[in-house]
Amino acid sequence: MRLDVVTIFPDYMAPLHLSLVGKAISSGLVELGVHDLRTWTHDRHHTTDDTPYGGGAGMVMKPEPWGEALDALRDMDPAPMTVVVPTPAGTPFTQELAYELATRDRLMFACGRYEGIDQRVLDHMADEYELVEVSLGDYVLNGGEVATLAIIEAIVRLIPGVIGNPDSLLEESHSAGHENLLEYPNYTKPPTWRGRDVPEVLLSGNHGVIAAWRRERALERTRERRPDLLP
Ligand code: ADE
Repeated sequence: MRLDVVTIFPDYMAPLHLSLVGKAISSGLVELGVHDLRTWTHDRHHTTDDTPYGGGAGMVMKPEPWGEALDALRDMDPAPMTVVVPTPAGTPFTQELAYELATRDRLMFACGRYEGIDQRVLDHMADEYELVEVSLGDYVLNGGEVATLAIIEAIVRLIPGVIGNPDSLLEESHSAGHENLLEYPNYTKPPTWRGRDVPEVLLSGNHGVIAAWRRERALERTRERRPDLLP
């Protein structure tokens, strides 16, 4: 899979070279390109934003640098490109969407800042590419960079070969194999820590009883924290 990120803060993407995503890059499973949007500006100040038509607070990202960035990335690689734009106005990012995007050969992440990107750029993206506008949740970040880090991590860990034991994907919260329940609580050694014991049932060795207990805890947790996930 090839990933390209366009941002006015390329340094934000440094953590992608750490841990699991870093290994996926160094092993060649993932190819990453990080690009400064200012590469595609032509004025002395490398301007990427301007005041909004119709007035109002804040600035809007200008269309011209984005248009040139898209053309340049398109010409770099013939594989069809899916463009991901993180925005609080997008559709919610879910595990299901992460699985879907993990099947693409090529993703480009367009990181907006300020009040967002001129709408004509998004209309152009929708016409020329597959466009996915996604929100991480009902809160506002300063720009798309941190959301891009989260979305890339969620996608890359689903690429076959990235996670050592793929069974671990089946057991976690929001996975299809888990009935869309939140994950049950986990424990490891020692059996007693600061006066708190590991639940007896987990030491029983009875796999049927353990599975039933875990399902009950997962249901209880989901009812309490995320009743919206229950049928
Ligand atoms: N950019 C700013 N806020 C965001 C959010 N909540 N999700 C995705 N991208 C964003």
